[in-house]
Amino acid sequence: MNILVTGGAGYIGSHTCLEMLNENYKLVVYDNLSNSSLDALKRVEKLTGKEVKFIEGDLLNVEKLEQVFQNERFDAVIHFAGLKAVGESVEKPLEYYDNNVVGTLNLLKIMQKYNVKKIVFSSSATVYGVPEKLPLTEESPRSTTNPYGTSKLVIEYILEDLAKSDPEWKIISLRYFNPVGAHKSGEIGEDPNGIPNNLLPFISQVAVGLRDKLNIFGDDYSTKDGTGIRDYIHVVDLAKGHLAALKCMTDATEKGFIPINLGTGNGYSILEMIKAFEKASGKTIPYEVVKRREGDVAECFADTTYAYKKLGWKAKKSIEEMCADAWKWQSTNPDGYRS
Ligand code: NAD
Ligand code: UFG
Repeated sequence: MNILVTGGAGYIGSHTCLEMLNENYKLVVYDNLSNSSLDALKRVEKLTGKEVKFIEGDLLNVEKLEQVFQNERFDAVIHFAGLKAVGESVEKPLEYYDNNVVGTLNLLKIMQKYNVKKIVFSSSATVYGVPEKLPLTEESPRSTTNPYGTSKLVIEYILEDLAKSDPEWKIISLRYFNPVGAHKSGEIGEDPNGIPNNLLPFISQVAVGLRDKLNIFGDDYSTKDGTGIRDYIHVVDLAKGHLAALKCMTDATEKGFIPINLGTGNGYSILEMIKAFEKASGKTIPYEVVKRREGDVAECFADTTYAYKKLGWKAKKSIEEMCADAWKWQSTNPDGYRS
């Protein structure tokens, strides 16, 4: 199968490309490298001994994107490309809606024109907003608290309408919980620009000595130890979820818009994550409790029943493995792909 992977040079994209190459998929990656490095794909090629066709291009460049469809015949698209920083989206909403929503519309219109009607979309648990009830099922009410989240929710609405309009479309919207960790080789991993927004990359940078301490955003939530609880999922488990989604779409009976949670179903607190990381790295993580971060929820974790039923997929890796693999990547590449 020949697959177009938008945003395939990024964190989740590069891990998914690796798993797909191992299963002999042919891949064309289309990425503008706005938040990634081509080195990630070079390392993927080295690890798998297989080639990825790379095209540097932007989803907002319609002519270039269309050329790709003129030159190749795709069986399906995996659509990772997007901007993802919540705080930045509040400061630059137009940029986020343009890149994420308009970029996706461009892609869908060209897919329709070239009769490629299978897509796996990178959605997020952010579409559940502030959870009313836990665990979150695919039927939980959707709402958002920031422009990034709204861009994901708007794309889901567009995909739902598209699927309703034409029964030939097969659309799987994977709602990721909190992806962390790295490939076990330590060759590819998460390489944030500037100060990390997310917990695990921040802890990793403290452990490797790039930052003095972690700020814990509040310890007065009504959770087991007062700190926020999330459903952390190993990025390799997440990558395998995409393979399961592609296989599901080849089943002739599957059609329409299918949202699926990709999480482990387990919630861990910040203090538990710090402890697990200290154990995996042998380093102490100094921290200070500061005030809550605006927009954060106390607790968020998935009901994973539907993912197993629909895809036969289940996350397998423990938080010990997530921390050990994140540490291997960070300690061997302290400056990410610039190391
Ligand atoms: P990432 O930034 O590492 O990867 C995104 C890739 O898309 C980058 O390589 C970037 O250069 C590319 N890109 C962005 N805009 C583009 C455009 N207009 N044209 C072409 N390429 C473009 O992020 P990631 O963590 O790998 O996330 C992948 C997807 O999953 C994103 O859509 C993100 O919103 C979603 N997601 C991520 C998380 C997370 O915590 N990492 C959680 C839920 C959902
Ligand atoms: N946290 C800290 N200190 C930090 C960073 C995070 O205490 O320096 C805490 C947060 O307050 C939260 C937990 O660690 O309780 C996890 O925070 P992350 O930023 O790693 O993850 P979030 O759950 O806040 O955000 C993630 C994605 C978003 C997505 C959201 C909902 O990064 O893109 O899940 O799906 F919108």
